[in-house]
Amino acid sequence: MSTSRIDGDGTIQFGVFFQGVNHTTVWRAPESGSQTDFESFRRVAQTAERGLFSAFFLGEGLRLREHLGRIHELDVAGRPDAQTALAALAAVTTNIGLVATQNTTYNDPADLAHRLASLDLLSGGRAAWNIVTTDNAWTGANFRRGGFLAHEDRYVRAEAFVQTAKAIWDSWADGAIAGSRESRRWLADDAITQVRRQDASFDVEVTGRLPRSSQYHPVLFQAGDSADGRDFAVRNADVIFSRHAGLEQARKFREDIVARTLKAGRPADDVKIFPGQEFILAPTAKEAEEKHQWVREQQVSPQTAIAYLEQFWGRKLTEYDPDGPLPDIDPVVDVTNATRGNAFHGKSARELAAEWRAEATEKGQSIRQFVSQRSVINGRGLVGSYDDVADLLTEYAHSGAVDGFNITPWIVPTGLDDIVNHLVPRLQERGVYRTEYPGTNLRENLGLRAPLTHRRGDLSPARRQESEDVA
Ligand SMILES: Cc1cc2nc3c(=O)[nH]c(=O)nc-3n(C[C@H](O)[C@H](O)[C@H](O)COP(=O)(O)O)c2cc1C
Repeated sequence: MSTSRIDGDGTIQFGVFFQGVNHTTVWRAPESGSQTDFESFRRVAQTAERGLFSAFFLGEGLRLREHLGRIHELDVAGRPDAQTALAALAAVTTNIGLVATQNTTYNDPADLAHRLASLDLLSGGRAAWNIVTTDNAWTGANFRRGGFLAHEDRYVRAEAFVQTAKAIWDSWADGAIAGSRESRRWLADDAITQVRRQDASFDVEVTGRLPRSSQYHPVLFQAGDSADGRDFAVRNADVIFSRHAGLEQARKFREDIVARTLKAGRPADDVKIFPGQEFILAPTAKEAEEKHQWVREQQVSPQTAIAYLEQFWGRKLTEYDPDGPLPDIDPVVDVTNATRGNAFHGKSARELAAEWRAEATEKGQSIRQFVSQRSVINGRGLVGSYDDVADLLTEYAHSGAVDGFNITPWIVPTGLDDIVNHLVPRLQERGVYRTEYPGTNLRENLGLRAPLTHRRGDLSPARRQESEDVA
């Protein structure tokens, strides 16, 4: 066995990613609910909890997407602030983790650390922070900063941000608060250490305002796939929300992350991996395939297919037939940024278009067929009968390629029903899925070790020095 492989613990976990801005949530079906109604959030979270999911996960988007200069009206748009929604959900759930995606580019550490610690305490140790740098400089206009920070500088700021947040969380000593009512003083002497951070990103002096939760501080997720993003993750995160869901793809990603994790001085299995994945299930394989076709038609209308390609071509393509081949003309932009908010920002548009044209020709796909398969998270998604998908996930559980899946329901609020009612019991029968929550907080339920700053012995000398410098 090479050093960059790990054996799975033989189980698999689930999280749910309740999306907020996308064209992949079916919103015209009779059972479709609202993206902004609390009832949708409650229903999805409680169903996930009934299915013993580890986490309920929310993304963050600070601006609506814009397409060729206008609001992109083909998106299902509207996303209440993640921390506000999760705080409300904390009151109607008991065990499930509550993960808020929050960026390090526009927030400030003293404020964000406090709000996340508040969610953590109020939910009984169930909060997590999905750290992102966000991929669009144009979002900066919201904050009067214009296009703010180049890609590589964002991870420099993110590193300083997270170090500062951790120092704030760790600034209250264990047992800082008086242990009994008889005590004359609320706080012990030297209970709180002041955090000072002065570097190119921050010049702050912060006093933490809250004691620790039962899981010390919020669990740290990370989403961002560049080499800088991966290195940032292995230095800081407990869990990666990845894009690599196919078994072979996931294995490769795991190997890469394990190699980086070991280099960062952490145990090989210290960083959990949860790829995003869409599940389309039915009693039989044939029914699942039919459902798959229907879901794709709902998600990718002819207009959506054309608008999707326009993002990369940088011009109107309405004269092209959605049921015909990909456009035979070259993009009019050098890099793919015609839709503000697309995930391929900065790639060579010409290269991408040529690559896609070749792929679609080889597979004999029309524009709509190509976009259908391309534009959902991780391509095809997991499509199959309950039994076949349970068998496949059992293979995943034994492979060690992933620790779990962050499921992206294609419909809210009913999108988890068949997973919880039909798939989870089959996974339990196969011995690869929990039958109860193993712990009392998110850190325990995810099977994580203590936070890095609470196990100094495990840190590399360089990291120890760094955390001491901050503290
Ligand atoms: C699976 C996944 C989910 C993401 N979700 C969000 C999100 O909800 N909000 C956001 O601003 N960025 C999100 N991002 C993008 C991150 O902001 C990331 O920093 C961006 O992709 C640029 O970093 P990178 O070049 O390392 O990928 C996500 C990225 C991935 C891989």
